[in-house]
Formats: sequence, structure tokens, C-alpha cells
Amino acid sequence: MKISVSILSSSINAADIVKKLDNTEADYIHVDIMDGKFVENKTWTFSEMKKITSYSRLPLDVHLMVENPKKYIEDYAMLNTDTITFHYEAVKDIDEMIEYVKNYGLKVGLAINPDTPANVLFPYLGKIDEIIVMSVYPGKSGQSFIYESLDKIKELRTEIDTKGYRCVINVDGGVNNETAPLCKEAGVDMLVSASFIHKDIKNNIKLLKNI
Ligand code: DX5
Ligand code: ZN
Repeated sequence: MKISVSILSSSINAADIVKKLDNTEADYIHVDIMDGKFVENKTWTFSEMKKITSYSRLPLDVHLMVENPKKYIEDYAMLNTDTITFHYEAVKDIDEMIEYVKNYGLKVGLAINPDTPANVLFPYLGKIDEIIVMSVYPGKSGQSFIYESLDKIKELRTEIDTKGYRCVINVDGGVNNETAPLCKEAGVDMLVSASFIHKDIKNNIKLLKNI
């Protein structure tokens, strides 16, 4: 199982988390960007994030919870970014935005909120590299997993496998030792986690990696 460590935390300094990650089995740093519009909260500025992520060699998996994702792409393309994921709910012309991210040589993903049905993503699955199924309402870490997300993951797994697409499925929000096995069973390729991992960074990454 691939593990993407979200550094969004109300109690631990993000830089302190990042500094520990190169000695763990983590695959990516999950960077949550919020603009105070698409979601209520606001996160780091680009210059803060540039500094924070410089403490690790791990590739970045950037999750844009913002109204206007386009204006973030050029900046994040300059960091050690592997994938940029924007929200289906935020963008009118999804195809144009997919191409815009790809033109920077990056992988591209689409995220859906808990109230958005999985099948809205079907037309894009052959064109994108990653999906994030939000299993909490976006905005903060430490919320409880929404179990209905499991059905959406299963639906997407079936569609991807039937059509032979390469798109990977991530789940983001409320992932812990109890919910991760259910996500695996439903068909995810990657787990995003903040609060559970931060409790014991090295051991909990190992635990999720080996579920
Ligand atoms: C939520 C963010 C998540 C969040 C996950 O809006 O997109 O990445 O940090 O935090 P936990 O794992 O604590 O639910
Ligand atoms: Zn996220």
C-alpha cells in the first residue's frame, strides 16, 4: 500500500513532521492547500511550503482545496511535486484544467467531496493519474471517516479495472488502523493520513503500509 503523509495538523509543526519522513516508509508528502474560499480554513503560503518541504526528499502529492487551482500550478511545479490534484467541484472546464497541469510535466488528479457521486469522474478516468475520494468534508484533519465513501471507492475500482485505466485511487480523511483495512478491501491504492500518523510517525506509517 502506498502512503501519503498529510502534514496538516493543529498540534504539531509541519516542518517537524517533514523532517522525520525520510527515515520512514512513506511514499509521498501530502500537501493540503486551502484558500479560505473553497473551504473555510486557510493553509500555508507558497514560500512557507517551499521551506517546509525542503526538509525531505520525498515527492509531493499536492491537494488543492481551492476555488481557482490554476494560479497555484506554476509555483508547485517548481518544487519536488509528483502530482497535483484539484477538486471536481471547483472547476468548470475539467478537461482544460487536466491539460493545464499535464503541460507542466506533472501527474494530475481529481478529488471529490463526500456529497459528490463517484460516477461524475467516469469521463475523466482515462485522462488522469489519480483520484482522491474525500472520506471527510475537506477543511481540517482529525475528523471521523465517512463510511459511505467505501461504496464510492468500490464503484471507481470496478470502473477503472473494467476499462483497464491506470488511474490510482487515494482515500483522504479519517484513515486509521480500523478504517484503512476497509479502504484496502474496497480497492484503494494509496492512503492519505494526518492525525493517525502524527500520533507515532514511524510506527503508524509502517502499520498502514502493511495492512
Ligand atoms: C482534509 C485534508 C486531509 C487531512 C487528513 O481536508 O484534505 O488531507 O489532513 O487528516 P486526517 O487523516 O486527520 O483525517
Ligand atoms: Zn488532503
